[in-house]
Amino acid sequence: SSSSRLVVVSNRTAFGSQTRAGGLAVALWDTLSASNGLWIGWSGKIYDVPRRRSQVVEEDGISFALADMSKADYDGFYLGYANSVLWPVMHNRLDLAVFDSDYFTAYSVINRRFAALVAEHAHEDDLVWVQDYHFLLLAKYMKEDGWRGQCGFFLHVPFPAPEVFRSIPNHLDLAAGLCAYDVVGLQSRHDVANLARYLQEEMGAERIDSDRLRIGDHVLVLRHCPIGIDAGGFSAAATSAPAVQASHRLERFLGSRDLIIGVDRMDYSKGLPQRFEAMATLFDKYPELHGNISFTQIAPPSRSVVEEYVLLRQQLDELCGRINGDYGDLDWIPIRYLARGYDREELAGLYRLARVGLVTPLQDGMNLVAKEYVAAQDPANPGVLVLSQFAGAADQMPEALIINPHDTESVADAVHAALAMPLEERQRRWQALYKGICTEDINWWRERFLAAFDMQVSQD
Ligand code: G6P
Repeated sequence: SSSSRLVVVSNRTAFGSQTRAGGLAVALWDTLSASNGLWIGWSGKIYDVPRRRSQVVEEDGISFALADMSKADYDGFYLGYANSVLWPVMHNRLDLAVFDSDYFTAYSVINRRFAALVAEHAHEDDLVWVQDYHFLLLAKYMKEDGWRGQCGFFLHVPFPAPEVFRSIPNHLDLAAGLCAYDVVGLQSRHDVANLARYLQEEMGAERIDSDRLRIGDHVLVLRHCPIGIDAGGFSAAATSAPAVQASHRLERFLGSRDLIIGVDRMDYSKGLPQRFEAMATLFDKYPELHGNISFTQIAPPSRSVVEEYVLLRQQLDELCGRINGDYGDLDWIPIRYLARGYDREELAGLYRLARVGLVTPLQDGMNLVAKEYVAAQDPANPGVLVLSQFAGAADQMPEALIINPHDTESVADAVHAALAMPLEERQRRWQALYKGICTEDINWWRERFLAAFDMQVSQD
């Protein structure tokens, strides 16, 4: 089964992107390119008048079937159901969910439309691999339309406790959607356990073994597949010309100060206000650090018309201003907060310069910044990763300094310990982490997921 042509469906595709820096693009590009694969997704374009037809374009031997969205689709499906219902609930923020039934209608309509696109462009001996929470219902609609080929799904975000997921008014529709897949891949063992328990409690699923559930006469493979990075590629990027240039620019500003870096999409799941507070605690507890360190937070704005993201932006602007007002001096800015993005190579250079990588999400499916920070380090003088226990990455990275992001005092202490850590300990921790990200890299992830289809057919 893993030798059939691959067809990928995701809301955002890698079409036309210069660097293909994202984990997904790196994971899938070569495989798709070598097998004349197909990638189906949103064109990124929004039209006032809905345009039904998709456009097929080619790049590097890969066909892309790209569909536009109307403004109403975008509002209801993307901003609405995907990002105001599923995103908050999957990240354990029921309090932020907006349960508007029109959103679910829009979500179903778009899932149906993409299911029809798959039927139009794929063959039944293709292997269809659907990505992320935008398309939970795709396989169900494909099967209703008569699709009999294989179809798998990978969830990049966490699967929450059943008690949380059950609060979604249409949760049973979503569950039926998930059960229509042959394989469902999840980031952490915790996610697998949550989904298995949910399906047992709500769908009458029975456990066959650790990877398989029986639901009626369907066998569903639930596969633990933590996503990785192109560790060697990212490591090389950290000494590329743009990387060196970016790190020189920042060094000129830093002088002899030690750099602590954070890089996150501006999202409430990333724990940014808590991180800023932890830095204030650090300055309170360790006055000897004043003037000697610089915390730089890079936070490209995201989904910035959704209300919660507008509020987060305001909160960060205010917190950063307050902390710099309280602790700053004539020649010292304690927190530098840049609400913009940088290229992959530039980021790699900045990671390599930083003594501490601060990754403190309140909830995160995986968090690839943690892995990229490690990949970018200089083996002779590596920095220290401070990592939230609530990032999927924490499972695979026990040699990081693991913290609870809600506990600002312990985050401050971990940063302090990281800054003071002797070279030998830094190297020992880094070597273990680097080995892990090289072994369980992005190719390992893809192969592990695709191999799960054989687990399903080996059942009678
Ligand atoms: C997360 C999701 C992805 C999503 C990305 C960027 O990583 O898991 O599916 O593409 O955020 O968010 P956006 O809404 O801009 O696509």
